[in-house]
Amino acid sequence: MWLNIKSFEEYNQIYNQSETDRLKFWEHEAGTFYWRKSWDNVHSGGFEKGDIKWFEGGKLNITENALDRHLNTIGNKTAFIFEPNHPDSFRRTITYRQLYDDVCRFSNVLQEKGIQKGDRVCIYMAMTPELIISALACARIGAVHSIVFAGFSAQSLAERIQDCDAKMLITNDGLRRGDKHVPLKDISDEALKSCPTVKNVIVCQRTNRDIDWVEGRDEWWHMLIRNASKVHKAVEMDAEDPLFILYTSGSTGKPKGVLHTCGGYMVYTSYTFRNVFQVSEEDVYWCTADAGWITGHSYIIYGPLFNGATGVIFEGVPNYPDAGRFWEVVEKYRITHFYTAPTAIRALMSYDIKYVQKYDLSSLKVLGTVGEPINEEAWHWYNDHIGGGRCPIVDTWWQTETGGIMISPLAGITPTKPGFATLPLPGIFPVLMDENGKEIQGNGVSGNLCLKYPWPGIARTVWGDHERYLKTYMTSYKGYYFTGDGCRRDPEGYYRITGRVDDVLNVSGHRLGTAEIENAINEHPNIVESAVVGYPHDIKGQGIYAFMICENDPNDPVAFKKEIHNLVTKIIGPIAKPDLIQIAPGLPKTRSGKIMRRILRKVAAKEAEDMGDVSTLLDPAVVEEIKGGKAY
Ligand code: WT7
Repeated sequence: MWLNIKSFEEYNQIYNQSETDRLKFWEHEAGTFYWRKSWDNVHSGGFEKGDIKWFEGGKLNITENALDRHLNTIGNKTAFIFEPNHPDSFRRTITYRQLYDDVCRFSNVLQEKGIQKGDRVCIYMAMTPELIISALACARIGAVHSIVFAGFSAQSLAERIQDCDAKMLITNDGLRRGDKHVPLKDISDEALKSCPTVKNVIVCQRTNRDIDWVEGRDEWWHMLIRNASKVHKAVEMDAEDPLFILYTSGSTGKPKGVLHTCGGYMVYTSYTFRNVFQVSEEDVYWCTADAGWITGHSYIIYGPLFNGATGVIFEGVPNYPDAGRFWEVVEKYRITHFYTAPTAIRALMSYDIKYVQKYDLSSLKVLGTVGEPINEEAWHWYNDHIGGGRCPIVDTWWQTETGGIMISPLAGITPTKPGFATLPLPGIFPVLMDENGKEIQGNGVSGNLCLKYPWPGIARTVWGDHERYLKTYMTSYKGYYFTGDGCRRDPEGYYRITGRVDDVLNVSGHRLGTAEIENAINEHPNIVESAVVGYPHDIKGQGIYAFMICENDPNDPVAFKKEIHNLVTKIIGPIAKPDLIQIAPGLPKTRSGKIMRRILRKVAAKEAEDMGDVSTLLDPAVVEEIKGGKAY
């Protein structure tokens, strides 16, 4: 029987059990799946060497657990409701049986195109059922999917394809997101100029606009699928075989390809989905994320499908055609579970409450948030106006690297507290570290958040760069996994995530590295040097503030800002555009040449009065000049 925690008492009991015998706990959970062959060893390896393995020797195909297993029981149940960008466009529902057939057909297509177990396939698509079918078909044939959010630029797409030597790209002719049109095929063509490993491109029709066509390389999805058989035998995988790569930003260098493997990821996403959201058979669950991010992977695609849930695939944005869109969809499908990001809540809060009041939200039972700390004001608005005061809010803390939710209330079970992710899931052991690298004991304390023991969903490596994996996560605190987050444990033992303590920004729930943005800005011929920091932003959570030293100070800073925007959009994508720029005569540096970002953060946050100790600066005068500067 699947572990399904039903009371707070039971949560405490099971948490203690999971501490007493961690391996037995996970083995029990894994035993609920269909394995072609059981594992030889529950777990080996650890943070010291970064050689973590779970369920080694176990043979499975993850799609047999997401699809095949359900056919006899819930084959006619809706797996997905597709809600298009525009409310009047064609919408449809897909049953488990139909999804299974489509995944089998597309698996045959991929294999006919020569894709084999272990090959990498890049997916750059609109949020449509075909994106999910593509990912599942890859998993079914043992290919490693790398989904790239369809808001990234050609250059970002190219870098991600090159990094993992993808053999194929699956894309759309274009997409519409709100009132914007994104020419995905044109962007793909541009990217592929520098991606010789890609031999085939499959194009799924979405916008019917004119596109260029490369004979011998490009093929239409609908033509390929038409004659494909819906009989497909899933390829047998080892528990530790790669399932997917997902690129995410770090504090240095280019985005890294976080790798997840089949067995552990399956067990972890399924377990967390079921216990955190408490979705029952008749419920309709909607996670508003895009499948281009980890939230979409774990809690639109995999977690819900393992549990036979009904989910929504939403192509649109919260404020199109107007600020009532989310609530219109909630009413229309009688959504019971709604999972979104604080940035969306803050954005919608700023509109007239009539956009909420127009709709019947009485179907809602559980609300969730993810991606960034939620401020109390947003929490209360969500609780009162959306949840009508009767829906528990699950504030779920986790990361691309953790695979699934780590610290979160269990809906209706864990008493909640605004702004707190509350308590760790059974099997998860968070610790707070002090500046000497020691665990901080007791409650009412703050420190850097680490995890003490491996769990099945943890990323196994950074694609092609295991050293970077070790360096990023396993070296700051020997024997622990370091999250990069600061955290407070209140007197009751509840966890509150306070935000990143490294040079990673969280802008509207999107993770961006300051170095990545600086590198893009530095491509401008008039830039000598730049430094990017985050600052508090009412809607985005964090805004992007760029200090830059110019060769020749621009006469028209507003026009210059536009140039920087165009450049960053071209190199990374529109999400990385600086909100504010400031031309500076110099940057505050230590004698060893390190930029003191602490000072820049204070200036950006307009807290420059309280600058602290600046005596280690090479040129303290620069601080005064920056303080007196102007932001555009
Ligand atoms: C970072 C991970 C997890 C999926 C989406 C983001 C921040 C995430 C919360 C939360 C406070 C949160 C952390 C984390 N974060 N959830 N509930 N409360 N902060 O995944 O892009 O890998 O980013 O997002 O800073 O380290 P990601």
